Amino acid sequence: MQHDCLLDVNDLTIQYNIEGNLVPVVDRVSFFINPGEIVALVGESGCGKTQVALSLAGLLTKTAHVNMQDRNSIKTAMIFQDPLNALNPVMKVGKQILEGWSKEDGRWKMGDGKKIALELLEQVGIDEPEKRYHQYPHEFSGGMRQRALIAMALAQEPDLLIADEPTTALDVTIQAQIIDLLRELNEKRGLSILFISHDLSLVKSFAHRTMVMYAGRIVESAATENIYSSPKHPYTKALIQVAGLAKNNDVFLTIDGSVPDPRDYPSGCPFHPRCDVVEEVCIDTFPKLISDQEHNWNCIHK
Ligand SMILES: Nc1ncnc2c1ncn2[C@@H]1O[C@H](COP(=O)(O)OP(=O)(O)OP(=O)(O)O)[C@@H](O)[C@H]1O
Ligand SMILES: [Mg+2]
Repeated sequence: MQHDCLLDVNDLTIQYNIEGNLVPVVDRVSFFINPGEIVALVGESGCGKTQVALSLAGLLTKTAHVNMQDRNSIKTAMIFQDPLNALNPVMKVGKQILEGWSKEDGRWKMGDGKKIALELLEQVGIDEPEKRYHQYPHEFSGGMRQRALIAMALAQEPDLLIADEPTTALDVTIQAQIIDLLRELNEKRGLSILFISHDLSLVKSFAHRTMVMYAGRIVESAATENIYSSPKHPYTKALIQVAGLAKNNDVFLTIDGSVPDPRDYPSGCPFHPRCDVVEEVCIDTFPKLISDQEHNWNCIHK
């Protein structure tokens, strides 16, 4: 744990009752986020990223069995992959931004609401905020909808913005613009961000620190530049290789083999069936955490 951290999560486990068995989809995950930090959570589909995000935002369904040693309580706001689903189709965008506020804090009554909503629209880069304030979500483009969602999130004045694949549904140019906007909000407002992505190349120039998740566990974490310059975990290495190759050749690539199903996680190191440097011990023992300064990983290899 860092001394001045904003969020401190210890041993977060999320289980579901599947066919009579409690199955962990997130397994003893611990991490921290410092104030003003952008932290990326990356990993392939199904490894538990969204479950972590939903638990932090208090949005998990009642069927989830959540265990956490302790977590300080902070105000979070969340943005999602599909902004259209997160917006109310029959309510004007301006009103939806105002809805994000607690009714008790008085800003509604003071008549400042609209002024602040317009300022927020402007801050997230929406032109002609006065006109846009009165429009419905379907009158916005995909990128503008994500900007509107970010404005709604900011209206809640969160300590932490959780962004779950917020650019995955957008084309590359718009994707870059949204990343730029989040970076600007981080630099200008000191907004702390947990940014979730399956794409390591996307977070490379953006996140201060990166955590790599596999099969419900965080298997490596470090300053983003160290994750790239000296990845330790074979899974991280494979993710970097795949992201790099895909980018250079403009193709969609995946790591050989598939992400294990939570009902059937492999013994020992969960990555061992796909690992090309696997050893006997990896098959039945989960690797101990190795820490080298701020770089942490769970693998027998140094
Ligand atoms: N309500 C539920 N009941 C049972 N299993 C669930 C439930 N919700 C999620 N899971 C399982 O939890 C695992 C982790 O899901 P999660 O959505 O967190 O993955 P993810 O890393 O966000 O993947 P993606 O990149 O596809 O968004 C998956 O195997 C999923 O099937
Ligand atoms: Mg997800």
